Amino acid sequence: MIEAASQPSPRRILLGVTGGIAAYKAAELVRRLRERGAEVQVVMTAAATRFVTPLTFQAVSGRPVRTDLWDDAAEAAMGHIELARWAELVLVAPASADFLARLATGRADDLLATTCLATVAPVWLAPAMNRSMWANAATQANVATLGDRGVRLLGPASGEQACGETGEGRMLEAEEICAAVYATELQRPLAGVRLVITAGPTREPLDPVRFISNRSSGKMGFAVAAAARDAGAVVTLISGPVALPTPPGVRRVDVETAAQMYQEVHAAMAGADVYIGAAAVADYRPTCCASNKIKKTSDRLDLSLERAPDILASVAALDRRPFTVGFAAETTDVERNARDKLARKRLDLIAANEVGSDRAFDREDNALLLLWPDGRRELSLQSKADLAREFIAVLAERYHETRRARPKLAPVAS
Ligand code: CTP
Repeated sequence: MIEAASQPSPRRILLGVTGGIAAYKAAELVRRLRERGAEVQVVMTAAATRFVTPLTFQAVSGRPVRTDLWDDAAEAAMGHIELARWAELVLVAPASADFLARLATGRADDLLATTCLATVAPVWLAPAMNRSMWANAATQANVATLGDRGVRLLGPASGEQACGETGEGRMLEAEEICAAVYATELQRPLAGVRLVITAGPTREPLDPVRFISNRSSGKMGFAVAAAARDAGAVVTLISGPVALPTPPGVRRVDVETAAQMYQEVHAAMAGADVYIGAAAVADYRPTCCASNKIKKTSDRLDLSLERAPDILASVAALDRRPFTVGFAAETTDVERNARDKLARKRLDLIAANEVGSDRAFDREDNALLLLWPDGRRELSLQSKADLAREFIAVLAERYHETRRARPKLAPVAS
């Protein structure tokens, strides 16, 4: 495993500039990123070139600016796919309302949108637009979609706008964006760590057409998988049936039942450094699955259930166990129950939250209480994408702490 400290911050940044008055601030951003040692390749949309000329960005970046998907000479030098592969971070500043919409719908109608679609690097956006355009339900829906896919938003800030109005929609200052890029979380604290995570519900069949399941949407687990990938981990995501796209750069294995999930988890354990059980695995399953559809022949039907395998406990019990992390969904006494679960299943870390009809499941936001044997941290109510990033930052700290604390093997006598 590569040590976290040896992992440099991103040096190859693809800076997308879209059409908006804030485009002029992007020139200052290029300058600041280069001061920190980054190579910056600017890609402008056609609308951006109406605000600032490509020549300005060529001068500050020291590289020819790319504007056209159909530029034969530029494509021959570095095609859009190579551009997507070259980038360690794709940063779009300013990101206009139109660009958010195009990205949310997966359009590939210009060089910048195509590159964003083709890259496995993290995509960060610094939106800039009129406050009403930002507040519009269509823009907010696009922002939510992008957030679910692991795209990170920086800002926007609130204040006086170029159009004369005051409100939310101003692009963050170049200095703030640069600081976010070089903040500790982009130091990739999980660089090279092999991480296996489960997400979503399981389905336990009763007959060929019916099953027992639960209300998990998988959103939290998928957000954690994307945040772990951004932190540099090599991520395998073992998912129950959910309606979510796979975060780019994450290996996904789909399963239905707790037994299948158990099998895939253990198949992925060789060489795994971290296991996160974020799936809402069935605790009980039908003792047998009828081979034909159960008919309504009586007034009453009793279901016979048996315990499903506890995947998390089985991972924690392995001889060469990874750093093992569980989730606890509790309706009462959250901290006491979660601490009890932490000890009972011999976990390194547990993420607890309160659940109920209006909490946690199938929502866009969440809050978590993180507990480990001798500590705790509360993460406040926020979007699942932001929460996942904070969670991964704490997980990385705990992971490195326990690795350091692990006694060294005595040298073998010759
Ligand atoms: N889990 C698991 N396999 C199961 C059930 C749960 O791996 N068959 C994992 C979940 O992925 C999650 C944690 O265990 O990380 C949640 O445990 P939970 O089901 O809430 O706890 P239990 O120990 O079963 O306790 P209780 O249901 O009594 O709250």
